[in-house]
Amino acid sequence: MSAKKLYIATFGCQMNEYDSLKMAQLLQNEYVTVKGPEEADLVLVNTCSIREKAEHKLYSLVGRFRDLKSARPGLIIGVGGCVAQQEGERLLKGLPFLDIVFGPQGLYGLPDMIKAIEGGEGPICATGLGRDFAIPFIKGPLPEKRPVRAFVTIMQGCDNFCTYCVVPYVRGRETSRPPGDILAEAASLVDQGVKEITLLGQNVNSYGGKGGEGIGFAGLIKMVSQVPGLARLRFTTSHPKDLGIDVMECFRDVPNLGRHLHLPVQSGSDKVLGRMHRHYTRGEYLEKVRRLRDICPDITLTTDIITGFPGETDEDFSETLKLLKEVEFEQIFAFKYSPRPFTKAAGFKDRIPEDVKARRLNTILELQNNISLKRHEALCGANMDVLIEGPSKADPLELLGRTSGNHAVNLPGPKGLIGRMVTVRIEKAFCHSLRGSLV
Ligand code: SAH
Ligand code: SF4
Ligand code: F3S
Repeated sequence: MSAKKLYIATFGCQMNEYDSLKMAQLLQNEYVTVKGPEEADLVLVNTCSIREKAEHKLYSLVGRFRDLKSARPGLIIGVGGCVAQQEGERLLKGLPFLDIVFGPQGLYGLPDMIKAIEGGEGPICATGLGRDFAIPFIKGPLPEKRPVRAFVTIMQGCDNFCTYCVVPYVRGRETSRPPGDILAEAASLVDQGVKEITLLGQNVNSYGGKGGEGIGFAGLIKMVSQVPGLARLRFTTSHPKDLGIDVMECFRDVPNLGRHLHLPVQSGSDKVLGRMHRHYTRGEYLEKVRRLRDICPDITLTTDIITGFPGETDEDFSETLKLLKEVEFEQIFAFKYSPRPFTKAAGFKDRIPEDVKARRLNTILELQNNISLKRHEALCGANMDVLIEGPSKADPLELLGRTSGNHAVNLPGPKGLIGRMVTVRIEKAFCHSLRGSLV
């Protein structure tokens, strides 16, 4: 193995985590991945543009990398991901010490681009977005030995154009990966010790359109679930408008599918949902939740909420609070609306002041903490199947695992249980986790 060192900083969603892993795999013949930038020969930053705050993380990091490069002029610095795609050449002009700017599609050309830079070429910008881009199948060992969990991207891009969202502009048009590639990648991960796979896409329910060879998402779930040795399968994200009965029934019929669904609702107000171009009403969303719970009574639900979307009144906001009380999600991810480049809503004139957005966000989080705690307390005394992922974050001498419904559980136990499915008796509930002991 060569002595050259690669450091990757990853921001944003699970797709970016997947993409960063692919970068490491693409480059592993030349570079070993290291945990910090100090000694690296190559630094790659995988960026996110979903909200302004996410975009700022790039700019707060680059100063540090510029200093590293002044000290070591041979250092190669590349910026990839969604901010790179959004900014393109502008990023190279603004940050002239960068060597490579590449988008989510451009990352597959990294080995050639790095060779070109090493050969003395000037900065490279690879941010073209092909309409018919097909995700290449990158084979090879994982940089980390025997990880318990892994992601498999099943589709690229998004065609939904929700009016607040930058993703369709930075990830391009929706294309499904061929089922054969997905299955082969899943099987190879399980061979390398992976116990839990999460299928990734911006809207997995529409899997099977362009590039999918006709099998729908429910068919894909069933196919991947049968990989021998796979303890658990999950997927994210589901768009409510495309969630069909066939996928709901998988939660009843596929034994190793985790009983958890992340179903972003964004708002409880029909007026706001309409202006977001979400293509479902509050009533339709609630009806899907009712059917899901009919089919699989122990399913846990989580969601995303945006507060202070342009034009959101106090009444609209109270509709969202009412929906949270009605559904009782296990957990929510709530964000203040952030205007994004290229998007339709960025041009809406009826913006909500920052302090109102922030107040609404706090109200939501406070309400949800009570709901989460109440739902978690109802699990105390139960015995649950927990897949042990690794050491607990709070106390490295303890273990962290997850239930089928995706609750994080901390428990005392030996490291040898990592990667094993064990029965845990739940003893204590918190807002964001559970505590228990081995049965
Ligand atoms: N494809 C997924 C979500 C992708 S982005 C879906 O359709 O649900 C993850 C979350 O970020 C979104 O669900 C939304 O709640 C939030 N988000 C996206 N754009 C945002 C913006 N401009 N401001 C605030 N939150 C945003
Ligand atoms: Fe963004 Fe909407 Fe596509 Fe999700 S479905 S990625 S929120 S445009
Ligand atoms: Fe961020 Fe791009 Fe994911 S904008 S949320 S990294 S698709």
